[in-house]
Amino acid sequence: MKVNGTPMRTIWVSDDGEAVDIIDQTKLPFEFETVRLETVQEAAHAIFDMLVRGAPLIGATAAYGMALAMKDDPSDENLAHASKVLFEARPTAVNLRWAIEDQKALLEPLKPEKRFDAAWKRAADIADEDVSMCSSIGDHGKDLIQIAYEKAGKSRPVNILTHCNAGWLATVDWGTAIAPIYKAHDAGIPVHVWVDETRPRNQGASLTAWELGQHGVPHTVIVDNAGGHLMQHGKVDLCIVGTDRTTRTGDVCNKIGTYLKALAAHDNKVPFYVALPGPTIDWKLDDGFKIPIEERDDTEVTRMNGKDRDGVVRSVRIVAEGSKGGNPAFDVTPARLVTKLITERGVCEASESGLRSLFPEMPEAWS
Ligand code: MRU
Repeated sequence: MKVNGTPMRTIWVSDDGEAVDIIDQTKLPFEFETVRLETVQEAAHAIFDMLVRGAPLIGATAAYGMALAMKDDPSDENLAHASKVLFEARPTAVNLRWAIEDQKALLEPLKPEKRFDAAWKRAADIADEDVSMCSSIGDHGKDLIQIAYEKAGKSRPVNILTHCNAGWLATVDWGTAIAPIYKAHDAGIPVHVWVDETRPRNQGASLTAWELGQHGVPHTVIVDNAGGHLMQHGKVDLCIVGTDRTTRTGDVCNKIGTYLKALAAHDNKVPFYVALPGPTIDWKLDDGFKIPIEERDDTEVTRMNGKDRDGVVRSVRIVAEGSKGGNPAFDVTPARLVTKLITERGVCEASESGLRSLFPEMPEAWS
């Protein structure tokens, strides 16, 4: 997608070919800065500190992190060490584990001197595959927006509610939940997006609103508690969210607050769609409540970042001295509240049979 009119991805090989560059998402929307990652430790920190975030981008960064580790030291010991360092960076998004396991399966049988080239190429392929999967998710999801437009008699924009940031900033390009919106907008279907601010880190207000604005998509930022009210008043035609991990039975783990939106959508008969690429499906899990939920630092709750009237970006405390914050970063929406899953292979029921109909090659038995 474009930044100030220039096409960009969220991660790319540096000009000298020795490292990767990323957009520092902690600085958006106030500053646009890129950061160079030269080592596996730097890749892990970028994931932990959320310079990069969003399940698919976490996976792509981990894939490059494995490659950077092989550049420094391609030994068996360092391969195991790099996997551990990256794996511990964030626990919930399964794309992280997927990318590390993918690289390990490729690299372990190779002689050490062959590992860097192979890992670097595989990381580039993982990034390219992510772009292509997200573009296909966009195509399939666009059809659902088209249906909503026709249902409204083509008389007004389709109102879509989204939570957190599952746009191109959360992937290598296009996004998952936002890809259908970009494709619909580009195809001339009028859309308007309700953007949940998404406390505590405000990925909706800071990132989704910024990227929609860069692409010229009409949108309105709302507080996290407004969605139910808007649905009760017929102001939401459909919801589309992303996911950090979806079980093979269709339970969806996503940014904290997603579950409440799904409940409100269910109560108001608003379709609730979840967009995801194949690597976000955890085929080993049959129950969303087995997904590890990341607990983050309470200062994300007790403080907020913003730009003051003098144009200075500041972090301010918003609770009384001594009040503690609790910060579970994700929640689980049971499959029964999900209208459909939108994948790169098409749209399916949120169920094991639905997912298997699109991914028949996945083995039946997992430990
Ligand atoms: O904590 P974050 O910002 O990494 O959380 C991101 C989300 O919850 C996204 O909805 C999810 O990763 C899907 S990204 C396409």
